[in-house]
Amino acid sequence: MLKNIPNENSAQGGSTSGGKFYITTPIYYANAKPHIGHAYTTVACDVLARFHKLQGEEVFLLTGTDEHGLKIQKKAEEAGIEPQKFVDEIAVNFENIWKNLDVKYDKFIRTTDENHKKVVQKVLQTLFDKGAIYKGEYEGLYCVDCEQFKNENELVDGKCSDHNKVPEMTNEECYLLKMKDKQIELIEKIKNDEFKIAPERYKNEILSFLEGQDLKDISISRKNVKWGIELPFDKTHTTYVWVDAFMNYLTGVGWDGNEENIPEKWPADVHLIGKDILRVHATIWPIMLLQLGIKFPKLLFTHGHILSDGKKMSKTIGNVIKIEEMIEKFGVDGTRYLLLSAGTFGEDVDVTMERLTEKYNAYLANGIGNLVSRVIKLGSEVEYKMNSVSIIPDFAKLIYSIEMGRALEYIWDKIREDNKYIEDNKPWELAKNNHEKFEEVMKKLLGDLDLISKLIVPFMPETSEKIKKALETKEAEPLFQRIK
Ligand code: ME8
Ligand code: MG
Repeated sequence: MLKNIPNENSAQGGSTSGGKFYITTPIYYANAKPHIGHAYTTVACDVLARFHKLQGEEVFLLTGTDEHGLKIQKKAEEAGIEPQKFVDEIAVNFENIWKNLDVKYDKFIRTTDENHKKVVQKVLQTLFDKGAIYKGEYEGLYCVDCEQFKNENELVDGKCSDHNKVPEMTNEECYLLKMKDKQIELIEKIKNDEFKIAPERYKNEILSFLEGQDLKDISISRKNVKWGIELPFDKTHTTYVWVDAFMNYLTGVGWDGNEENIPEKWPADVHLIGKDILRVHATIWPIMLLQLGIKFPKLLFTHGHILSDGKKMSKTIGNVIKIEEMIEKFGVDGTRYLLLSAGTFGEDVDVTMERLTEKYNAYLANGIGNLVSRVIKLGSEVEYKMNSVSIIPDFAKLIYSIEMGRALEYIWDKIREDNKYIEDNKPWELAKNNHEKFEEVMKKLLGDLDLISKLIVPFMPETSEKIKKALETKEAEPLFQRIK
């Protein structure tokens, strides 16, 4: 197997140095059940984690739930449930869906964990003592769904463009984090890729934002939000939910809040996020780290959004595709495949149930399913020694540079070629009249199947096992049945 290919010319990054690989998903708001977008990011992280593990790296995958803040406080109130009880139930939903999707995370962090809360308080005290946090006042338009203050110029017709809602005018006493004094240093580190933002387009977007204006100091506390972590130096305030949330990337690998005890796993090799939360991840988070004197994560990789029929999925439009519905119809590996093959990772991708079904039939039932059953059936009499192939560097590069869709295309090109090779060579005829050629054709196909089973491991672990078993026992159970 291939070990630690250096990542010289990859545009995106995906570090392999040092033999460790620490990757994070965003921690998802525990205000509602997990949906297809959450699954998209988390499955992608799982694939990366599995791949790096297969290369012999020491991998750690962190995921979890973001459980404080006004949005959740309001939801719990509406439901008439205590917020802690409310988030307890939702967190279980997330843990279960990851289990169902065969996601093997190393830790599930919840921001209501005692240790997390304690460390957040410790860090805030440190920042306060350093003078990076000071008392003041903040007036602005707050979008509860984003849990963010918005600038006038970010609004469309006075509404938050992500949530299509009018933000609330908020004016209150608060504590602020100094941003501007670290702005130049941040720009430098993004430019020279010490803090790499990829794909390139997102790096440029952030740089033009940072170079276009002075950063305003941000409010890191709320007086009117009860559901949050109390500020250690002023119990009448709770911590701004994003500041609380970012700390998960350090508390999740066991940080105790002491600057001398930064965990060995830090810095994170990849934070994988959706483009909706790029701005905060590329401003507030790195500036908190600069103020604390802690190293930056190596790579902030941003993917696009899943749209349905050209539009953001929404209950009112009625174009929501449920993740449970996908698993039910396409199975676990089918769902993992369909999510990650939906388009170029980084750009928005569009899905509809019809197109997913077509794709399932063409690429899974007819594509890989058909290939496996034909090769196993025809090759049952041919000697083949398993594991005589290794992963191809070109393919590995695609995964190291987080090009999930292209990596899958690479495998499916091979599948398509092999299906054609069978039709061109007609091994069932060769078996009767040209045994030498028959052996040659079947050995190539069995070798390719061996390889394919290895390439798909991180994407479709169960299918990979089934193919390996079929190669060993020379018996193939159907992998994917055609569906309507
Ligand atoms: O923002 N397409 O949590 P969140 C693709 N708690 N990915 C999508 C998506 C879509 N349509 N919708 C959501 C938060 N996602 C914060 C994060 S991190 C310190 C705190 C994915 O529940 C994508 O990864 O709103 C996006 O960034 C994330 O879910 C937002 O999840
Ligand atoms: Mg969101």
